[in-house]
Amino acid sequence: MSRVAYVNGRFVPHGEAAVHIEDRGFQFADGVYEVWAVLGGKLGDAAGHFERLERSLAELQIAPPMSRAALTVVLRETVRRNRVREGLVYLQVTRGVAPRDHAFPAPGTPVSVVASAHAVDRAAMEKRAEQGAAVITVPETRWARCDIKTVALLPNVLAKQQARAAGAVEAWFVDELGLITEGASSNAWIIDKSGALRTRDTQANILRGITRKTLMTVLAREGFKVEERPFSLEDAKEAREAFITGAGTLVLPIVKINGQPVADGKVGPVAKRLRQLYIEEARGTAV
Ligand code: PDD
Repeated sequence: MSRVAYVNGRFVPHGEAAVHIEDRGFQFADGVYEVWAVLGGKLGDAAGHFERLERSLAELQIAPPMSRAALTVVLRETVRRNRVREGLVYLQVTRGVAPRDHAFPAPGTPVSVVASAHAVDRAAMEKRAEQGAAVITVPETRWARCDIKTVALLPNVLAKQQARAAGAVEAWFVDELGLITEGASSNAWIIDKSGALRTRDTQANILRGITRKTLMTVLAREGFKVEERPFSLEDAKEAREAFITGAGTLVLPIVKINGQPVADGKVGPVAKRLRQLYIEEARGTAV
């Protein structure tokens, strides 16, 4: 089966999908992106990701390329044409193509819109979740607007590569106060030694994760108390459990931090339960 991508109004063979060399996404990383989990062929947490996309665009003064309804059609069609049942769909929107100049191009320059989808092996991911995964920590080196989901991801790329080289799935950024901000492509959570479920607050310089947000709703419904309060690497090392959230990983238990086991090094009961609860919720609400 051949893959296709959506590029500026057309579906094209994946291997031929391209943007112009003067696309501002390529030249300046002047653009944003969003990622939806595809669950049973449908978009997970659809509204939340659209809300954040619209916010990211507004923060960068990029006009939305089309209505939410039209974008939904594009994304669904991208998923359908690629026959993805379980996977991810990506959308990138950049400030378009213009002669290279740092300042914005002329008003009316069309934005560039790209969508692509790929399947994931959900069974393999489930197996990884059952075993738990490892993270490493790296110094926080990103800019002050991590709330915008921009395609400028170089610090995240370098952090993730360092994680991969260390046999870990994720890198947690640690700020100058020694507090974990978030992962290179996920939000970070622990159940601390006193049993409190903690994750960084969204006033901090982090991406306001949509998986995080939905999990918060589920947690409230299930009677869990959450503290949106920073935790340090020391707190994490002494934690009872740890996990990460994101469209790519859903809820993934973490059993090792910088090579050291979290508690007994086994997946904790709460993280395991929260993964089930989140997946049930996201499958039930996918559109
Ligand atoms: N990453 N923090 C960062 C820096 C992220 O890049 C992501 C998502 C998250 C989690 O956000 P959400 O729950 O909305 O997916 C947190 C996506 C999956 C990616 O870059 O592929």
